[in-house]
Parts: sequence; structure tokens; C-alpha cells
Amino acid sequence: MGPNGLFFLLLYSCYLLSSTQGLGFNWGTRSSHPLPGDIVVRLLKDNGINKVKLFEADPQALSALGDSGIEVMLGIPNEFLAPLASTVQVAEQWVMQNVSQYISKYGVDIRSVAVGNEPFLKNYMGMFEQSTYTALQNVQAALIKAGLARQVKITVPLNSDVYQTDSGLPSGGDFRADIRTLMIAITQFLIDNGGFLTVNIYPFLSLYADPHFPADYAFFDGSAAPVVDGSISYSNVFEANYDTLIWTLEKNGFSNIPIVVGEIGWPTDGDINANVDAARRFNQGLLDRISSGQGTPKRTTPPEVYLFGLIDEDMKSVDPGNFERHWGVFFYDGTIKYQLRLTDGRYLTPAKSVKYLPKQWCVLGPGANIMDPTLAGSIGYACTYADCTSLGYGSTCNGLDAGGNVSYAFNAYYQTMNQKAGACTFNNLAVVTRTDPSIGKCRFEVMIDISQHKKAKGGPVVSSDTTRPGRDSSVALSVVAVVVLLISSLTRVHHALIASVC
Ligand SMILES: *[C@@H]1O[C@H](CO)[C@@H](O)[C@H](O)[C@H]1NC(C)=O
Ligand SMILES: *[C@@H]1O[C@H](CO)[C@@H](O)[C@H](O)[C@H]1NC(C)=O
Repeated sequence: MGPNGLFFLLLYSCYLLSSTQGLGFNWGTRSSHPLPGDIVVRLLKDNGINKVKLFEADPQALSALGDSGIEVMLGIPNEFLAPLASTVQVAEQWVMQNVSQYISKYGVDIRSVAVGNEPFLKNYMGMFEQSTYTALQNVQAALIKAGLARQVKITVPLNSDVYQTDSGLPSGGDFRADIRTLMIAITQFLIDNGGFLTVNIYPFLSLYADPHFPADYAFFDGSAAPVVDGSISYSNVFEANYDTLIWTLEKNGFSNIPIVVGEIGWPTDGDINANVDAARRFNQGLLDRISSGQGTPKRTTPPEVYLFGLIDEDMKSVDPGNFERHWGVFFYDGTIKYQLRLTDGRYLTPAKSVKYLPKQWCVLGPGANIMDPTLAGSIGYACTYADCTSLGYGSTCNGLDAGGNVSYAFNAYYQTMNQKAGACTFNNLAVVTRTDPSIGKCRFEVMIDISQHKKAKGGPVVSSDTTRPGRDSSVALSVVAVVVLLISSLTRVHHALIASVC
């Protein structure tokens, strides 16, 4: 190697050091006020993140990623599986519109297409079993036809309940019996086409699902090793879970397929175990593993990892739990929740140029009677259209008094409705204040001003008004009952569910 070679090697090393290798982020966009795409892309770049996973071909996100140098794993929602499986033409259309176009016209660096999202989750009761494999084959055929198959690889993001272990040990791992044949066919197809396996592993959900789960075992720095498998002692559930997959694959003759961890992370609100300290402990432990290139006992080469998630999403389904809206390393507006040392040694940097609505909040009026019979209905109404998940048990705003609860709900609604006139009346029991009602860890937010961002960009932006006013009801239920009921019954499409426990 001549001096030039050495120079480039050094440059290349600098490049490696200045970006966060092996780490990507899931960028979900189920928000009432999504942060504009260009701001998110800048946020990623400022933090040295060069890989991102999208759950769908969101035009805003994709066009913002154009010429950014950020590698994209592009997801296809489960609802698309049946149409994509119906004919190869549908897949060709999808690839043309959502892959080819963004690569050639916008310069988006799409590296893989993730077909479906946890389609074999037990909760779906087989709904996507018929379509997934055919959709995968059709998408691959369409990529080949578009001349993209070398650049764009295929995968299927799986929930970790596609494998299990009867012995409770990783070495007992095998595919779940009801989908074993299907999983073998899919894995073989992925291998034959240069694809990879994607698995989502959520130690938080193990802890959430089982009150007897040893808490330390969910983290990477626990000292106890409750699982001993032959000569291997497991001190964290991530490794045990991941190695169960490796054993499963080996047992079925697939020792070499590359694996990507498609989702992993820890939420900061909405449950007793979801808080900033636990999230920092988990995610920092994860990042430290990635920086040190640590694999697991069964596979020493570390997987590529996509953290879930980048930003909070206030419109995610809360079917799995209230924590669903709080997985972000950043708040909804790209501000930092807690500090993390990234894999390049840098610390998190917040989003820049975010524009906010005026600093004002909607609260219960000073003279209002907390026993007013219309209050329960008003809260129910407010929390149907806005996110009140921070009020629940174990959450950041759970300590509020009855009046505080009402104010929180009023403000959440007022902000979600862009502080529009008439969104802070609630039978004349509400008033607008310029004093921030936030108290302790309980944040009364001021929303992002989407209209200012639209103006700043001068172009059309995907509508943020996903919320629609409905009929006001004045059911005289107790305030608490209504809030609890609504928090647990809001349903929308979601992307992360229960992980299996080894
Ligand atoms: C491209 O993807 C988006 C979002 O996933 C979808 O709405 C659209 O229908 C897709 N285009 C085609 C031609 O399937
Ligand atoms: C406030 O609301 C939460 C969630 O519904 C509830 O757990 C709590 O008891 C309420 N506090 C008061 C004082 O009503």
C-alpha cells in the first residue's frame, strides 16, 4: 500500500469513527404532529445515525431522506400483504412507486424492503400467514424486474414469538409448531435471494408481561445469571432470546443467515417500569454492546440493531399498553429525554429549528367546580382525540390531583387541536393560561406549529389533522373511570407487540 492508500485508509477510519456504525433507528410517524422530515433527517445526521427503518413508504420521510446518505430499510404494513400476494403486478406497482422512484428521482439509499411487520404474531391468529410468503416472493420478483435486486435486499421483521423453547433454555429453541413449515420455507427463500432475517426483541415486554420476571435480567448490566444452558450462563434476556433464535436456525439447517435486530428499546412513560432511568440503563447498555462489537455466546458476530424508537408517537395504538406512545429516545419534538453516549462516543444532540405554537396552555378554570357533572364527559372527549397516557398508573402525571387530571386532558386536547379557538372551552370550565402548569416530571406540552413548518418549506406537507372532532358526550361517569377506560381502549394500527419470554 502506497502513501495514498494509507491516506485513504485513515480517511476511511475517520469516517467509521464519525458515524454510528451498526446502529440504526426506527422512525415511526404515527403522530398527530409529526416532526417535519427535513428536521428529522438533520437530527439523524447530527447524531451520526446513518441507518433508518421506516414502517411504511411515507412520502414525507422518503423525500426528506433523498441524497442524505442515510441507508433505509423500507417497511410494508401488514394490510398490504394480501394485495401484494394477489398478483405480481401489484408488487411491481408498489416497487415502482415506492422503491424505484425514490431511488432514481430522489436519491434515497434504500437497502432493504421489510415485507410485513410481525405478521405471525400470535395475537393476529394466523391472519397474515397465507399472504406473507407469497407477498415476499412477489416483491422479490418485482425487485428483480426493476433491476434492483442486487442493491435492495428483502426481509420479514418477525416478533420473537415465532420461535420458542420447551426446555426454557436457548438450546431447546425451535420455530413455533404452527408456523414451522412456513418459517422454514421463508428462511430458505431469504437465503436463496441474499436476504436476511429480522427479529424484534423486547426485554421490556418480558418484564411487563410477567410480574415475577427478574428485573435485572431485562437489562445488560445485571449480575445474576438465572439461565444456565450447558456451559453458558445468561445474565440478560436479550442474549438468551437471541441465542434461542440461533439454536432454532441451526436446528433447521440455517446456521449462516444474517440476522438484524429490527426493534429493541425501552419506553419512558405509560407503565411503572417505563421511565427515564430504566430506559437510559437499557439503551446505554445496548449502545455499549454495539460499540464494543459484542455478540452473543452462540453468535459472536454482533447483529445490526435498529433502536425503537427515534421520536415519541402520540397516535400509536395503546392496545399493547400505554407505554406504546413513549418509546422515543427523543420527545415528540426532537428534544432529549435523557442523555445517551452513542457508539461513536458522542452524546445526543436535539432537533434544530423546531417551531412551536405560542407558549400557552389550557387548564381547568380557577372558579370551576371539580364536581361539575359535565367534566367526566369532557375528559373522555379530550382524551379520545389527544394523548392522555401519561396520566395512568405508574406514569409521569399519575400524581396529579383531580383538578390536575382535568387540566392535563384539556391541555392535551387544546394542543392537539393546534390551540384553535374553541378548543379550550369545555362548557366554560376551561381557561387559557400563560403559566406553564408542568409539575415535577409531568410535562404539559406545547405542540409543534405545523403551519409554520409548512410555510417555511413552501410546499405541501402531509396533513397533520389525523384527529377529527366527534360528538361531545356528557356521560356522568367518574372522571377516573372514563380516563382509565379511554386510555385502555383507544385503537389504531400499531407496530410493536409482545415479545416472547424464553
Ligand atoms: C406505496 O406505499 C404507500 C404507503 O405504504 C401506499 O399507500 C401506496 O399505495 C404504495 N403504492 C403502490 C403503487 O402500491
Ligand atoms: C387522575 O387520573 C388518573 C388516571 O385516570 C388516576 O389514576 C388518578 O387516581 C386520578 N387522580 C385523582 C385525584 O382523581
